[in-house]
Amino acid sequence: MSNTLTIALSKGRILGETLPLLEKANIIPAEDIHKSRKLIFDTNHEHIKLVILRATDVPTYVEHGVADFGVAGKDVLMEATTKNLYELVDLKIAKCRLMTAGVVGADLPKRRLKVASKFTKTAKAYFADQGVQADVIKLYGAMELAPIMGLADLIVDIVDTGNTLKANGLEPREFIADISTRLVVNKAAYKTKYAQIEPIIEMLRGAVEENE
Ligand code: ATP
Ligand code: PRP
Ligand code: MG
Repeated sequence: MSNTLTIALSKGRILGETLPLLEKANIIPAEDIHKSRKLIFDTNHEHIKLVILRATDVPTYVEHGVADFGVAGKDVLMEATTKNLYELVDLKIAKCRLMTAGVVGADLPKRRLKVASKFTKTAKAYFADQGVQADVIKLYGAMELAPIMGLADLIVDIVDTGNTLKANGLEPREFIADISTRLVVNKAAYKTKYAQIEPIIEMLRGAVEENE
């Protein structure tokens, strides 16, 4: 078995906060990730490689064991159907909340609710848990438009400052979950590569504490 350790990173807003954390854990890319079109990077450790993925693809690479570690938002992990991974460290970056939101002051209709979200699995589970009948419509972005356009009564989306909701005449309604970025590891790799994996986990735990 190869001794290489591959860490799958989420591109986008998580990446900018992950790289300083990795640097504190002494894992430094061999070149500037932000200035390159490459998707796979060597690091200052011969046996550690970084791959840069669309956030929602990170659990898939770790599930299949082609990446040993993954860095992904809790929102993405809640939506993923993957079971083959352990969630080991809360990296405490890209913190936000998953909320329902609707048009300011608008009452909910008596009929079955229409809910639009990128997070359909989580949304369905949330409304089922509340005993509320809801049809969930899958969207891929700009969810704030859905209630304004009459596509949905509510959305389930990420809220941080609340500025995006406010700018679109929406208000947060119900809290669903606190979200932050997590380090996940493939279950088989955790066993077979434990001696290499454990020091990285410890370094990252230290880096998170340093950040606090
Ligand atoms: P894509 O742009 O590829 O569709 P995305 O919108 O999920 O993906 P980002 O916006 O970079 O990508 O968000 C990545 C992760 O950052 C999310 O999964 C979530 O955990 C977190 N996140 C998203 N929005 C915010 C926010 N406004 N504040 C803090 N964290 C956020
Ligand atoms: C995310 C999320 C909200 C917004 C919330 O969007 O989908 O729209 O951030 O943040 P706020 O409460 O601070 O306004 P993002 O900026 O990632 O845009 P996207 O639709 O391209 O993912
Ligand atoms: Mg986004």
